[in-house]
Amino acid sequence: MSRKKYYITTPIYYINDVPHIGHAYTTVAADIMARYKRLCGYDVFFLTGTDEHGQKVEEAASKQGIHPKELADKMVYRFTDLWKTLNISNTGFIRTTEERHKKVVQHIFKKAYENGDIYLGEYEDWYCIPCESYFTEFQLKDGMCPDCLRKPERLKEESYFFKLSHYTHRLLEFLDNNKDFIMPEIRYNEVYSFVKGGLRDLSVSRTSFSWGIKVPMKEKHIVYVWFDALANYLTGIGFQEDKGCFESFWPCDMHLIGKDILRFHAVYWPCFLMSLGIEPPHHVFAHGWWTIEGQKMSKSLGNVIDPNDVVATYGVDEFRFFLFREVPFGLDGDFSKQAIIHRINSDLANDFGNLVSRSVTMISKFLRGKIENPETRNSADEEFEAGIRQFIREYHQSMDVLSFYKALQNVFDITSIMNKYIDSEAPWKLAKEGDKRVKTVMYNLWNGLRLLALILFPFMPHKSQKIWDAIGIKDPIEKAKFDYEENFYHREDISEITKINPIFPRIEQ
Ligand code: MSP
Repeated sequence: MSRKKYYITTPIYYINDVPHIGHAYTTVAADIMARYKRLCGYDVFFLTGTDEHGQKVEEAASKQGIHPKELADKMVYRFTDLWKTLNISNTGFIRTTEERHKKVVQHIFKKAYENGDIYLGEYEDWYCIPCESYFTEFQLKDGMCPDCLRKPERLKEESYFFKLSHYTHRLLEFLDNNKDFIMPEIRYNEVYSFVKGGLRDLSVSRTSFSWGIKVPMKEKHIVYVWFDALANYLTGIGFQEDKGCFESFWPCDMHLIGKDILRFHAVYWPCFLMSLGIEPPHHVFAHGWWTIEGQKMSKSLGNVIDPNDVVATYGVDEFRFFLFREVPFGLDGDFSKQAIIHRINSDLANDFGNLVSRSVTMISKFLRGKIENPETRNSADEEFEAGIRQFIREYHQSMDVLSFYKALQNVFDITSIMNKYIDSEAPWKLAKEGDKRVKTVMYNLWNGLRLLALILFPFMPHKSQKIWDAIGIKDPIEKAKFDYEENFYHREDISEITKINPIFPRIEQ
């Protein structure tokens, strides 16, 4: 039987800037989903990469007196190094300056032209260089770019256009039939009303700069950076080069993006694909933005957060956990030192960390580190088991719709069931009285920790491994997949369990 497939992407990041917390956010989110789907038995393709063409990159390079490709070669490591630090498990990495990508972009541009969806015309409007977008007079906000509030320039150029206007009805029909194409719902509604207002043809080539992929029919034209960038999702899984890979992974299951680039992904991209006769992706999820200590993150304010610094101070899994525990995925969030310390101390060190060390200590003390099969079960054990099963079921439902915040809440729900179970069963009493039931209680705690580590694994892979090490499970990923339904009572080769150092130490301020 062929395995289920899952294809997830991040945006490709501009290399004219260093990576910050916003870039880390999307990439870690994609990593969480990729790890989760792998645990569920999917064959996952997880693509990320860098966006290396366009006027912004050309300008940044010229400021440094170097060629744009040289800038890209220097900067790409900032991203790939950070992904290593953040323990990102991507399967593919794409740079838009690669030859394989140039071929794809030129091929699809030509194909859309031959299909009659791209034509040559003249374009004049307000152009915002940092946003690489044209705006009509009507769209400007007090004469400024509506996205970044900087001053746009009046530009007129010969340009190729994509007949987006022809796709208004097809796209509306597609949206009507695929209500979960755009997530969360609020973003779907935004896009829907935008499309309903009617789409205007889109300029898809530029002649005002030269750093990009040439239009195959007229080489003084450079392919519009977004047409070029979006095509990465095809190139990255072998479009044209590796038919087998492409056909098994396309349509993409999930494009993860920030809310600012929704229109490109949820309006332009499906229309380009329709023109090429390629099925649109299944879902586009637009997440919110992070502010820093209540303020917009910006270079001029000097408050840009380097994820490397956060990891060095608080630890990689702590950072990953914080990003998804602090705010529901989809909403905006605020990053502050206080907030991350609070999360680490209250959620991790107090609630969860205490449970782990308490349980491990008891197993090592009462059973001399040897877990044994439970002999008897009473109604408290049944209730305990039913509670855990219920929360794991909810966890899966939340993960399926990227509700990471809720999924993490289930970890704490289980933690609380386990703490209550310890209090009500009082294993220290059972041990003192030489009651055999202590084995059942210890087994259940051990099993609860095993499952907690499993559901936490997509978020905190290192810490989960530490928990598995502490409870003596060897090779957990291979053996302990999501088999809780069939195999709740899951005993395997277990090494002796001994006392451990705290897995989640408190941060003293
Ligand atoms: N190159 C384009 C994407 C092309 S995808 C075909 C681009 N790159 S970017 O580097 O500017 O931004 C990448 C992502 O970072 C976007 O999804 C954006 O939403 C996200 N973020 C940038 N600042 C952010 C925050 N302050 N908070 C959260 N995410 C933010 O756009």
